[in-house]
Amino acid sequence: MPAPSPRPILIAPSILSADFADLGADVTAMMAAGADWVHIDVMDGHFVPNISFGAPIIKAIRKVTPKLFDTHLMIAPADPYLKDFADAGSDLISVHVEAGPHIHRSLQAIRALGKKSGVVICPGTPAAMVAPVIDMVDLVLVMSVNPGFGGQSFIPSALTTIAEIRALIGDRAIDLEVDGGVTPENAGAIVRAGANVLVAGSAAFKGGRTAYAANVAAIRAAADAARA
Ligand code: DX5
Ligand code: ZN
Repeated sequence: MPAPSPRPILIAPSILSADFADLGADVTAMMAAGADWVHIDVMDGHFVPNISFGAPIIKAIRKVTPKLFDTHLMIAPADPYLKDFADAGSDLISVHVEAGPHIHRSLQAIRALGKKSGVVICPGTPAAMVAPVIDMVDLVLVMSVNPGFGGQSFIPSALTTIAEIRALIGDRAIDLEVDGGVTPENAGAIVRAGANVLVAGSAAFKGGRTAYAANVAAIRAAADAARA
């Protein structure tokens, strides 16, 4: 098992689980509750069996917080829309290796737009698929559920993939993010496997705004304890 990432633990709530009827206020509340990034799950109903939202929503909430917008594109093709998501206010844009044949070109395009780049792999995809582009990214996102919906259970085999990606990253300045079924109960194992950025939808937004700070703190405490 490689050493845990030396990079700071970051909590990235997924707005897929937010209150869409009052999204700006919900994002404000979650950032005030101690979250580090805003994880934005874009779904097209083609690459994944669900439709969420597009660039206009990102533009609408951009003014709400200066914190990093971590845009996870679960769309295929992704390239025609990269500029829209960059112009809307994304700080980091991640694309799936499975979304098309030209992941190298997609990552080049994201960097050419002046944004941080991320590569994403689904639970059934070997970690080795990331190796050819590891020096083109600021982040690797390992899916620990089959993408498309919040509220799913963590897939334990993701821990092996996380450790393999951690070994691949080595001492590069690359964040290792995990998305899907993250809770305070499994956050420690996820961090010990090598992750430092934890996406949480259900676990972050459950219980309403008065619970957000405790939700975020519980995930962070479990992650920090894994490094102690
Ligand atoms: C893909 C989405 C979800 C979401 C996390 O399906 O990316 O994984 O962000 O939702 P929870 O934390 O509820 O699994
Ligand atoms: Zn996501």
